[in-house]
Amino acid sequence: MKLSGRIGRIKPLATLSINAKAGALKRSGVGVINFGAGEPDYDTPQNICDAATQSVHSGRTRYTAVGGVDELKDAVCRIIEADYGLRFERESVLVSCGAKHALYNLFMTLLDHGDEVIIPSPYWVSYPDMVELADAKPVIAGCSQEDDFILRPEVLDKAITANTRLLILNSPSNPTGKYYGPGELKALAEVLVRHENVLIASDDIYYRILFGGRKWVNLGMVEEKLRERVFIINGVSKTYCMTGWRIGYLVGDPAVIKAATDFQSQVTSNASSISQWASVEALNSAQEGYTQMALAFEKRLKRVMELLHELPEVTCTAPDGAFYVFPNFSAYFGKKLAGRTINGSADLADFLMDEAHVAAVPGDAFGDDNCIRFSYALSMEEIEAGFDAVKRALGKLQN
Ligand SMILES: Cc1ncc(COP(=O)(O)O)c(C=O)c1O
Repeated sequence: MKLSGRIGRIKPLATLSINAKAGALKRSGVGVINFGAGEPDYDTPQNICDAATQSVHSGRTRYTAVGGVDELKDAVCRIIEADYGLRFERESVLVSCGAKHALYNLFMTLLDHGDEVIIPSPYWVSYPDMVELADAKPVIAGCSQEDDFILRPEVLDKAITANTRLLILNSPSNPTGKYYGPGELKALAEVLVRHENVLIASDDIYYRILFGGRKWVNLGMVEEKLRERVFIINGVSKTYCMTGWRIGYLVGDPAVIKAATDFQSQVTSNASSISQWASVEALNSAQEGYTQMALAFEKRLKRVMELLHELPEVTCTAPDGAFYVFPNFSAYFGKKLAGRTINGSADLADFLMDEAHVAAVPGDAFGDDNCIRFSYALSMEEIEAGFDAVKRALGKLQN
């Protein structure tokens, strides 16, 4: 059957095929350690689950306003004021089915054919495909490991053309875990202030998972002149261990939010009413308990970095947040085992799956073929056993 040209331009999500392979191995009785998951390994806190149950029992099970219930929009405004120091009204908030949906709504609302979107690489897997779906052109701005995978102002400046409509910035980053501090953001802001037509999508989904006492900051917070051009994308998925509940939000210019809400009204209508009420509880309850998870990830990262140092010829930039590492395995490219040659990150990820029974996502899906992404949202035992198996498998490769 003929499919649309649009669908022909996108790739399936890389993490899905990794999980499918890991699932097949598991079904055949092989224990796989899965470093592929993009979600915290904790359950949703009980008070949030209780709020969901209560919403069902009290009949809050019908359509809501397309852009979300007022209580949730108010809760989003409150949390943004507390965590970003920025004030917004309800009219600036659109609640969607996850941060992913919030990004897609924004792209579909802002972008036209011929528009360019600057995506620093390594990037989150979905950005280029989503931009393509919106009929615009992804422009990849390469960030090297030597530069700590941080977008440098001169690279940004060079990437901007008369057609640039949007810059996507994700901090802390999936896949690198790198964070943009105030100095790095101010340097980028200087460039952006000179280019008035460029809007900014600030994907802040990991903003609470920061290490080493780092304080949350984004472009709109460091430069007042950019404030009206920054769109905040955030949600409850990672912060409150609610990935399956599918609640994200877009915050920014009210006219764009109104248009994005109109778009959503024709596609999905409101996000799940039950999840919205659970999210009201997540955002309105005391926040201290929820920040403990970041401390647990920081502890695991310390061990992960030690284990990575034990892998010969593997280098890794130390992350500042989120729960991913993105080590460089290119020293193993060209090596062989039993007639099998490792020619890039996809081959190496396949090899690790077969030889080490470890699932991880090849860097080519994130725009950097030298690296592999490991999520360490796993128990310490699994982390240790997994990297031990990786070390033994790498040891078998020959020149
Ligand atoms: C950088 C980034 N942005 C957005 C999302 C999507 O989040 P959600 O599950 O809320 O749609 C993810 C999820 O992995 C992500 O890593």
